[in-house]
Amino acid sequence: MPLFLYLLLLLLFLSRPHQTHSSPLSTVAIAHISNISLICAFLPTSNQQFDLNCTSTLPNRTTHNYPSGHSSFSAIAAGDGFLCALGPSLTLQSNYSTMLWWEFYSNVSETKRVYQGPPIVDLSSGDSHVCGLQAGHVSNNLNCWRWPQLSVPKNMNFSDIAVGRHFMCGLLSGSGRIRCFGNESSVVGKEPSDGNYESINAGSRHMCAISVSGKLSCWGNGAPSLGNSNISVVAMALGAKRTCVLCTNGTVTCWGPQSTLPKHFRTAKFLSIQAQGDALCGVLMLNFSLVCWGKKEFVSNHVVFDRVLPGPCVPISYCTCGVLPGSGSLCPNGGCICQPCRFELLSSSWITLLHRKKYLAFLIIGAIAFFIIFLVCQILFTKWCQNRGLSGPAETGLIRAYMDSHAIEQRLNELIGKGVGYSVEQFSIGDLQSVTDGFSASCRIGSGSFGSVYRATLEDGREVAIKRAESGNAASTSAAPAPARVRDRETAFVSELALLSRINHRNLVCLFGFCTDDSERVLIYEYMSNGTLYDNLHKRQPLPPPLATWQSRLKLALDAARGIEYMHAFAVPPIIHRDIKSANILLDKNWVAKIADFGLSLVSTEEGGDEEDGDYEQLLTAGTVGYMDPEYYRLQRLTAKSDVYSFGVVLLELLTGCRVIQRYGESGTPKNVVEFAVPYIVADDMNHVLDPKLPRPTPTETDAVAYVGYLAADCVCEIGQDRPSMTEVVSGLERAVAACVQNASSE
Ligand SMILES: *[C@@H]1O[C@H](CO)[C@@H](O)[C@H](O)[C@H]1NC(C)=O
Ligand SMILES: *[C@@H]1O[C@H](CO)[C@@H](O)[C@H](O)[C@H]1NC(C)=O
Ligand SMILES: *[C@@H]1O[C@H](CO)[C@@H](O)[C@H](O)[C@H]1NC(C)=O
Ligand SMILES: *[C@@H]1O[C@H](CO)[C@@H](O)[C@H](O)[C@H]1NC(C)=O
Ligand SMILES: *[C@@H]1O[C@H](CO)[C@@H](O)[C@H](O)[C@H]1NC(C)=O
Ligand SMILES: *[C@@H]1O[C@H](CO)[C@@H](O)[C@H](O)[C@H]1NC(C)=O
Ligand SMILES: *[C@@H]1O[C@H](CO)[C@@H](O)[C@H](O)[C@H]1NC(C)=O
Ligand SMILES: *[C@@H]1O[C@H](CO)[C@@H](O)[C@H](O)[C@H]1NC(C)=O
Ligand SMILES: *[C@@H]1O[C@H](CO)[C@@H](O)[C@H](O)[C@H]1NC(C)=O
Ligand SMILES: *[C@@H]1O[C@H](CO)[C@@H](O)[C@H](O)[C@H]1NC(C)=O
Repeated sequence: MPLFLYLLLLLLFLSRPHQTHSSPLSTVAIAHISNISLICAFLPTSNQQFDLNCTSTLPNRTTHNYPSGHSSFSAIAAGDGFLCALGPSLTLQSNYSTMLWWEFYSNVSETKRVYQGPPIVDLSSGDSHVCGLQAGHVSNNLNCWRWPQLSVPKNMNFSDIAVGRHFMCGLLSGSGRIRCFGNESSVVGKEPSDGNYESINAGSRHMCAISVSGKLSCWGNGAPSLGNSNISVVAMALGAKRTCVLCTNGTVTCWGPQSTLPKHFRTAKFLSIQAQGDALCGVLMLNFSLVCWGKKEFVSNHVVFDRVLPGPCVPISYCTCGVLPGSGSLCPNGGCICQPCRFELLSSSWITLLHRKKYLAFLIIGAIAFFIIFLVCQILFTKWCQNRGLSGPAETGLIRAYMDSHAIEQRLNELIGKGVGYSVEQFSIGDLQSVTDGFSASCRIGSGSFGSVYRATLEDGREVAIKRAESGNAASTSAAPAPARVRDRETAFVSELALLSRINHRNLVCLFGFCTDDSERVLIYEYMSNGTLYDNLHKRQPLPPPLATWQSRLKLALDAARGIEYMHAFAVPPIIHRDIKSANILLDKNWVAKIADFGLSLVSTEEGGDEEDGDYEQLLTAGTVGYMDPEYYRLQRLTAKSDVYSFGVVLLELLTGCRVIQRYGESGTPKNVVEFAVPYIVADDMNHVLDPKLPRPTPTETDAVAYVGYLAADCVCEIGQDRPSMTEVVSGLERAVAACVQNASSE
């Protein structure tokens, strides 16, 4: 059966429609801020991820990073004063696209989401507009942003688009004819009358098109006179009066003022080219360096980025003209970058064998043989795992930390045997008794997920919080704890010890040590002298200074978000906290917020213990009412987005100063802060719900606070998939805090 599936996949792979022209999505874009060029590109980082960075070349090269959040971008486009990025990565093969927009002229550089809908497969930008094509041959598949004046008949069926300064052109699928719309009299109405074009591109005031046979033709104001030169072209890049083409042999030829390639790169081979205004850039085939020319500012150093992602990452089956060698190591999720079609470069390599029918049979046979071998290996591996009592690969992934008591003990011994963590000490119960007066009530400061918490000063002077589980022996004098409760306690203990001993972050509470003498289960943490966020927010009058201004409240939220982001995105394997709430956010003596209480946390592990149905119930009830993700509650499906929901509730708590569940006004029934606040936030009536204990936000703070309100509303969105990732939350809060700080310092 699986073999059959593999064969089916193989057939699908081989029968993909031909990719006829170079990719309509770009990973390099050129923006302008008045007359300064800003070159933007995806830069590979070490772990098959990439950054979206832009560098301005004047006055000095300064780089700015645009975080993508959890899901990678697939392409970017830019123009005069803006940058927009399309996501998620095509390798995820998701059924929707999202577009983010950055406006450079506005003072608060904030991200706007301008689109979420059916996948966009082609993105083109002119000097001030962006248009995209939706996937699928539906009529009216064109989408343009910030261009209400443009009118294009609804029944157009485009296969490619190009956007100029005041016009756009589309290539009609089927006939291959070009139709243009907009204000440029030298372009609109002057389209070539014949059809059979395959790809088009627009400059500021001119157009070029490549015909099915690879022939280039151009028209409009600033179009080059090509005469009867006979070059066959792979791709084009058009700017203001400038036209560059990528020839089938990989070299670039340009026409127009100051557009000649620097001497050094005249024979160099390129993979792709871009142009906007007077700036021209290309990605070198040799080392994926991005080189730019055409303006004075590039003369001193043409190499703008040492290494860029040379094209969008796609699933391997998309590449009908072969895969760019080495690109597999650049892309996440097993994706790759396609080799542009019609390149004559790699004629000797195996890639072109694909085009020769007689080799195809060999290839298919080879692939089938490969899959059979793969299958046999997989079966053997599964058998081997079963013999060793491990779960098969299908069951790896998120596995809860709940285990039977035997497994708990084994895990504990394992942990202690390994020396736990580099910085975690083992204490004896005697040491702890002496520093807490025998766990006296006078040292007790509260209770955590599995016991009482005491404050103490260790002999070396460190102030610590000591969390001691209600021990089986001690409690037996009152009521004997049910075996299930002992197990819960043990599980919480092991899970917290295991997690905290291997992670270390400024915004996660720090574990100093532990004690497992006899049946004692004690954890020793750094002491957080300012208590919980919950107590500070709801119990202290007057409010302590860090909670008394909007700027510092947002700062606290940012700290906490960074802690959660670390667990989700950087801990290996990732951790889901499951009990994010203001009472689990602690504040140290400098008012830095740290996430605490990992007793309910789950890790992604490959060694999950046996799972019994009985435990599942406990899993379901984990969490705190009011903070619990309704989707998790309903569908019993736990993802990192459940923590995002809980964090959204904390954000609402910080904004409104309300308890998570309380009565509002005269109405008798208590309401959740989500039900109370979100309707006002989405109706743009933020002031109605802001904490009255704080002064009204200043004008810039108003923007930042409103932005955080929307962010919180996004976080508590019903559908987990639609919530932002913690990385997106962090970058949103960073911008909001930065906006407040700017404001404060400029006053
Ligand atoms: C940009 O414009 C300013 C003022 O208009 C001028 O001083 C500067 O030299 C220009 N820079 C470039 C790169 O043309
Ligand atoms: C640009 O760099 C030079 C030297 O590298 C420095 O002297 C100058 O102050 C810098 N200019 C700006 C605006 O940062
Ligand atoms: C992108 O820019 C940020 C901020 O300037 C920088 O820290 C980061 O290293 C850059 N990424 C790459 C891959 O160079
Ligand atoms: C994408 O697919 C999911 C289910 O697989 C569906 O709920 C959602 O509506 C789809 N989105 C779009 C934009 O089609
Ligand atoms: C940005 O701030 C400057 C002064 O700080 C102001 O003159 C300008 O109008 C502001 N621009 C926008 C778009 O708000
Ligand atoms: C659009 O073009 C495609 C490909 O030529 C065709 O299959 C489809 O039916 C067309 N759709 C409309 C609405 O014309
Ligand atoms: C065409 O020009 C007019 C007048 O300058 C302008 O109002 C209109 O928005 C432009 N149309 C497009 C599609 O840009
Ligand atoms: C252009 O190239 C084609 C084949 O590559 C050739 O048949 C044709 O004669 C050439 N035309 C000119 C004007 O050189
Ligand atoms: C590549 O092709 C162009 C046009 O077809 C030609 O002018 C150029 O000499 C060729 N370059 C090399 C290195 O073959
Ligand atoms: C890539 O190759 C070009 C051409 O040889 C060279 O100028 C450039 O410095 C190289 N880039 C890096 C990062 O070495």
